[in-house]
Amino acid sequence: MTLSPDSIHETVREYYGERARNSDSCCGPSAGCNNDLYDASLISELPADVSSFTLGCGDPITLASLRPGETVLDLGSGGGLDCFLAARYVGPTGRAIGVDMTPEMLAKANAIAQRLNVTNVEFRKGYLENLPVEDASVDVVISNCVINLSPDKPQVFREIFRALKPGGRVAVSDIVTNGQLPDAVQKSMEAWGACIAGALDVNDYVRGLREAGFTHVRVQPKGDTDSALASLPIGVPFSAAVTATKPKTGEVVAEAEETIITLSAAGGGESRQTATEQLMSRVAEVTSIDGGYELVLKGEPVETRALAEAFIAKEASCCSALHFDLENSADGVRVRLTGGSAAKGCC
Ligand SMILES: C[S@@+](CC[C@H](N)C(=O)[O-])C[C@H]1O[C@@H](n2cnc3c(N)ncnc32)[C@H](O)[C@@H]1O
Repeated sequence: MTLSPDSIHETVREYYGERARNSDSCCGPSAGCNNDLYDASLISELPADVSSFTLGCGDPITLASLRPGETVLDLGSGGGLDCFLAARYVGPTGRAIGVDMTPEMLAKANAIAQRLNVTNVEFRKGYLENLPVEDASVDVVISNCVINLSPDKPQVFREIFRALKPGGRVAVSDIVTNGQLPDAVQKSMEAWGACIAGALDVNDYVRGLREAGFTHVRVQPKGDTDSALASLPIGVPFSAAVTATKPKTGEVVAEAEETIITLSAAGGGESRQTATEQLMSRVAEVTSIDGGYELVLKGEPVETRALAEAFIAKEASCCSALHFDLENSADGVRVRLTGGSAAKGCC
């Protein structure tokens, strides 16, 4: 099957149109848990149905460090949660503009804006590949789990660059891989909609941003699980925080400052890292299976299983894109990673 740009847009639009119609979110009551992508203090003042409607994979708002008066552009704004959060930080002298191609998402976001009486937020219909904004009109571009869905990422990076003012910045949560995805996954339309098949390798992500003109490009896994997935010797999707800057006119940036890819997680105490590292050092084999991946962990079975169970219990979340299953076998402890919230249609 050939995945043409139009067929990808069409599939993705249908996929998210359905999610909007059914208020089918990854986190929150409909998923049977809380939205744990954001710090509770960030979302607690919004009505529960608004704060729980996320199809994102991170928290671009905290990453963006927004300031009063700034103009923020949210790519693939969905139900609008990040725009409503951004609007508070930028205040009455700033504004948040959400862009989305799916009419049902725009209708949902507009209905919420009206209900909350938010006046510094606007939702525009459009494509990431052809953003409906003026050149050099935006201070910050944010996005939550959307760029991976685009069939033409170099064009998206060029459009972000065009829309930003000199000195403007990018703060994006997205699904990426460290290594190529298995062929079968790349070709699956369903996996594309679930933010997996379109995920770029981190190095290609960075290269794409650099080629568009960005400097200070940084990529870091969102958390401990993501960092563990990034360390596997096969392309597995994980959530990352991506930041970059459009240079000011005439600005020269030292080469060492230009790009940093860190595959260990942000924050996280020493003991957490040690537990993850211990677990990852036991991975003897990784293969792709139908709907995901299988890892074989070597080592003393009881201890290895306990290590894996502790890791999964700590990291498993309804907002996570992966579901974990454990099984003892003759050749070691087998861990199956399959689409968890991705299977529910979440990123
Ligand atoms: C995974 S959802 C994320 C929504 C929102 N950012 C959030 O965190 O809940 C992806 C959203 O991006 C929109 N989208 C996907 N590809 C797009 C494209 N190429 N142009 C415009 N919108 C797109 C979809 O319609 C959908 O609303």
